[in-house]
Amino acid sequence: MSMSEESMSEQTMRAVTIEEFGGPEVLTPGRVARPEPLPTEVLVRVHAAGINPVDWKTRAGQGMAGLQRMPLILGWDVSGTVEEVGFGVTTLAPGDEVYAMPWFPRPAGGYAEFVTAPSRQFARKPASIGHVEAAALPLAALTAWQALVDTAGVTSGQRVLVHAAAGGVGHLAVQFAKNLGAEVIATAREPRHAWLRELGADETIDYTRQRFEEATGEVDVVIDLVGPQDDTDARSVAATRRGGLVISVPSGVSQNLADAAARAGVRTSPLLVEPDATALTAIAGLVDSGAVRVEVERTFPLEEAAEAHRQGETNRTRGKLVLTTTD
Ligand SMILES: NC(=O)c1ccc[n+]([C@@H]2O[C@H](COP(=O)([O-])OP(=O)(O)OC[C@H]3O[C@@H](n4cnc5c(N)ncnc54)[C@H](OP(=O)(O)O)[C@@H]3O)[C@@H](O)[C@H]2O)c1
Repeated sequence: MSMSEESMSEQTMRAVTIEEFGGPEVLTPGRVARPEPLPTEVLVRVHAAGINPVDWKTRAGQGMAGLQRMPLILGWDVSGTVEEVGFGVTTLAPGDEVYAMPWFPRPAGGYAEFVTAPSRQFARKPASIGHVEAAALPLAALTAWQALVDTAGVTSGQRVLVHAAAGGVGHLAVQFAKNLGAEVIATAREPRHAWLRELGADETIDYTRQRFEEATGEVDVVIDLVGPQDDTDARSVAATRRGGLVISVPSGVSQNLADAAARAGVRTSPLLVEPDATALTAIAGLVDSGAVRVEVERTFPLEEAAEAHRQGETNRTRGKLVLTTTD
């Protein structure tokens, strides 16, 4: 590397940028300016960046598109090493291994070699897993946690139905619910059932072969990760006891769901995940104790983000997809 190339690579970084909303082809690998940490922020060298449906929804002009600015670097899930700390940061130092879902729903720029964000949005990475697995956790795990713990307040002995249990949020929700002492009923295609039972599902339902609401019995809480597709949200009401709760995660409470719930005396809630480093620390504890496992179906080099989006958009991913910045 020549002197000028070296100084250039210090000021710039690899990143995947989009200039306009559109299909996967708008994801363009290249170099951009490397961010600098403001007071109270840390600069983190990203080893791996998790991919979530909100990434491809936003890329297509939906999801959080209205809150973004072009050119945009997508990606909210990161795991990496603290490179530099801004003035005033006392709890992290260069070399610390951290993971986070910084800034959501504002842009975080996770599909890049570096991100900056307030230090307290980061938690220590679970020590027992690598950066790839850690990067798969934040958004999905915080969503499951905020639904089960913060919103539903699930307690031991309750019956919890998790839709799309084989996906990123779902497979973590199954394990968190089990850990809270709940009886867990999971919907997924049949080939995923044995794995979901290993993760703690007590009952598994193939939603393509039977109407789930005829097979679940009465549940206290539904974690709906499917939404209005096939009326999954409104049909969940029929599976829920009077006074029970349906949390519809993908796109809020539809009119159909609201009407069915009102008729049946069932409560409903939307949910939008929020950064929470305290919860990430608790989640790291569950991972390190062996109570929770994270499933990464496939990794892609950063520059192949478009291919990763194409795979994600098939809606068949088991667990998570993750981008890596190093070989
Ligand atoms: N509001 C929020 O803050 C928030 C946060 C996170 C996620 N979300 C939303 O929640 C949804 C799930 O997110 P995710 O990351 O878990 O997605 P994901 O990992 O892409 O989900 C893929 C899984 O969904 C399953 N699936 C697809 N259709 C299904 C159906 N009709 N019934 C049961 N399972 C079905 C598939 O399993 P099979 O092959 O077994 O069908 C697949 O394993 C997305 O719409 C996402 O945008 C919202």
